[in-house]
Amino acid sequence: MTGWFDLAERDDWPTDPFELLTAWLPANDDPARPIMTVITVDETGAPDGRTQLLTEFDAGGLYFHADANSRKFAQLENDPRVALVIALLDDKHQITVQGVAETPPPGEEDAAYRRRNVYLQQLAWQNTHEFARRPLPERVAAWAAFQEEHADGFEPPVSWAGKRVRPTRLTFWAGRDDTASRRVEYRRQPDESWTVEVRAG
Ligand SMILES: Cc1cc2nc3c(=O)[nH]c(=O)nc-3n(C[C@H](O)[C@H](O)[C@H](O)COP(=O)(O)O)c2cc1C
Repeated sequence: MTGWFDLAERDDWPTDPFELLTAWLPANDDPARPIMTVITVDETGAPDGRTQLLTEFDAGGLYFHADANSRKFAQLENDPRVALVIALLDDKHQITVQGVAETPPPGEEDAAYRRRNVYLQQLAWQNTHEFARRPLPERVAAWAAFQEEHADGFEPPVSWAGKRVRPTRLTFWAGRDDTASRRVEYRRQPDESWTVEVRAG
């Protein structure tokens, strides 16, 4: 299924939410990646959040990639529960996810790195606290020097890592100007099937 599936209008939504993800999200090879808020739980139990690119999705879950030494990865190591809010930026659609962060399948992180644009590939190398604390002229010079030294491209740094969020709950919000918004909510059952419920927006 591709192209918008209008949940505000239609009542014949699919039994598998992956079909709705496919209809609502850009394909994985589309360079325009959606942005989402990734919400984790810190070591005190407080919520924490930040923006990430939604790198890709498949039937197993939704993926993001970051530095393995980052705060969010430390938090997920401690507590893998995670929430995602995917902004579709047209004010008529929203996807929210509750789930558990897992290690992606072998090869996925490498493939995701190679799909990133060159700026983001380089950022994965130079996005350190030490780098960020240097004065601007030094940061610009170090950036240019890295490009010169790696004119043939970059391999992923060892700190490059991904997470796959395996959803336990997926909620699709649909708005309309001529009536109230509403949501269609999927909950994963122990036998891996999904229940579907319509909720107020
Ligand atoms: C539009 C946008 C997209 C971003 N995408 C990513 C991303 O894909 N991966 C990433 O590590 N950080 C990304 N960031 C930076 C994060 O929001 C965050 O500052 C960084 O990952 C450190 O977060 P942490 O200290 O909570 O781990 C993005 C920021 C913005 C504004």
